[in-house]
Amino acid sequence: MQVSRSSLSLEQAPPISVPFRFFITAPIFGLLAALLLLVYGPEILISRWAPATLALTHLITLGFLGMIMCGAMMQMLPVLAGSPVPRVKPVATAVHGLLTIGTLALAAGFLSGITGLFHLALSTLGLGFLIFIIAISVALIRIRTPNATIHGMRLAIASLATTVILGLTIGAGFSGMTSLSQLIPLTDIHLGWGILGWIGILVIGVAYQVVPMFQLTPEYPQRLTGSLSWVLFAALVIWAPLYLAWGSGQLPKWVPDTWILLPTIGYTLFAGSTLWLQHKRRRRVSDITLLFWRTGMILIAACLLLWLTSLTPAAKNQPAIPLLLGIWLLFGIAASVTNGMLYKIVPFLAWFHLQNRQVALMSMGKVKVPNMKELMPDRLTQRQLYAHLATLFLLTLAPFWPNPFSYLAGLGLGVSCALLLLNILQATRRYQQVNQELSDFESSR
Ligand code: HEM
Repeated sequence: MQVSRSSLSLEQAPPISVPFRFFITAPIFGLLAALLLLVYGPEILISRWAPATLALTHLITLGFLGMIMCGAMMQMLPVLAGSPVPRVKPVATAVHGLLTIGTLALAAGFLSGITGLFHLALSTLGLGFLIFIIAISVALIRIRTPNATIHGMRLAIASLATTVILGLTIGAGFSGMTSLSQLIPLTDIHLGWGILGWIGILVIGVAYQVVPMFQLTPEYPQRLTGSLSWVLFAALVIWAPLYLAWGSGQLPKWVPDTWILLPTIGYTLFAGSTLWLQHKRRRRVSDITLLFWRTGMILIAACLLLWLTSLTPAAKNQPAIPLLLGIWLLFGIAASVTNGMLYKIVPFLAWFHLQNRQVALMSMGKVKVPNMKELMPDRLTQRQLYAHLATLFLLTLAPFWPNPFSYLAGLGLGVSCALLLLNILQATRRYQQVNQELSDFESSR
């Protein structure tokens, strides 16, 4: 399954501005999340249901993670699978614009309770995701011989559609547009599909391809790649009605809670395999992406233990535990893995586009194309890794001692996202400089 450089098809790839606009927007949403933590402080960490907590959650899930995942999918499908997203430029412009407006409006709606902001959020997010899901589905359906990554992407898109439909439904209920009888169970099902389906299955599918390719590890075992994503998806399909049956008093809570252990164990298996493959990698040079991924994989196992703890009677009246679970899932695992991936995808794409243009122009020896490490130097990414890890530590303490740790975590998140933004901007600037040199060479011939 490993993709060699020669099997990557650049002719199909969209212009670099398509994914980069999503990648640059993501840390800006991270900065907004940091600002929210600094302004609201301990209030954000008292309960899952506080309006500021819901705003913060969506700045991270839609603004940070969603932007990176949407941008990466638009780029990866043509490059890795040779299947371009139809009308990618207008699609990217529409999706990026609608999701940006929608996420800002949703966060503002949660904070202010103004119904008009919810109307704006639900219509823009609904339309933005509709366009994204249709465009990506067309590209996914066109692939004749899908591998495990493509199957993972298909299941992740189905999970995203489910998450969005549930999000729109509870959003309408939350803002009083409709009345909903099962708001809490529906919210838990929404977040279950969002985190374990959309984010989790996409990360697994993409890992099958990018971990061996970028981290120089052996391939994932076929037994895992052939079945894991399907098992996880099927487990979620069965869990949702079990959870609703609990919500309407037809089943005791331990039934859906025990069932959800199945996908959780599946994720832990995936984490164990990834750590094992990383341990067996061919070149043992230090690698920042690998350290981001290792952090995420270790926290998957930690989340399984925390989830089991949360089921004990002693944890019943401890609101810090679900908060910590959310922090580890969204920041510790999902943000670590996507942040780490950006440090491969961004320099790789910049180098790939420049190198292909250099070959096409036959300008070798005249214009030097920087390599990936020159485009994204280790000293810059390492600095941001330390800021990210410090933030994770502070966020872990914050649910137990909201004052002062929520403020300190806000500060850490601000520094980490600012450094991430600067690192991406500096690689973009370097790309633009060399691209300009290539244009100058072209016009001087
Ligand atoms: C159209 C997009 C979306 C809309 C309109 C939306 C709307 C909502 C609403 C209204 C709630 C609060 C429900 C309540 O308080 O009862 C909620 C909760 C939540 N949503 Fe979304 N959502 C969307 C997308 C997503 C995505 C893609 C994720 C990804 C994981 C996500 C993750 C969550 C989580 C984790 C919670 C629970 C927050 C908490 O417990 O503090 N949402 N969503």
